[in-house]
Amino acid sequence: MSVVKINAISVPPHAQERFEERFRGRGGAVEKTPGFEWFELLRPIEGTDQYLVYTRWESEEAYRSWEGSQDFARAHQGGGDELAPAASDSHHLWSYEVIESSAPDRP
Ligand code: HEM
Repeated sequence: MSVVKINAISVPPHAQERFEERFRGRGGAVEKTPGFEWFELLRPIEGTDQYLVYTRWESEEAYRSWEGSQDFARAHQGGGDELAPAASDSHHLWSYEVIESSAPDRP
């Protein structure tokens, strides 16, 4: 059963551009990680300043081993501003199990 790990990060309006730019320049190591299934960066449209980093994994173990890896550390070592260090407390990690999913059924 797949698991979904969503990192919700509060990004104030003045920092959004920089935040998105960082993701455009991300390393892309996660795509090569065993058990990785999906990634999406979701920008809030209204009602919140939280971006969601949606990731889906084959198993809890696959996520845990990426989270403990050099690749994760490298993607989060920061670049002179406050958006990347994984120690920041302006974020929440939400964990879910996928119990149903579907894709378009087209010919
Ligand atoms: C305070 C905690 C965190 C912050 C502020 C943060 C922010 C960022 C930023 C700005 C990047 C772009 C790369 C860069 O700037 O060098 C990044 C990469 C990424 N983050 Fe986080 N992150 C945090 C924790 C997490 C957690 C717990 C997850 C788990 C779902 C996660 C998932 C990802 C993924 C999948 C990437 C892309 C890595 C790649 O391309 O290989 N982040 N994060």
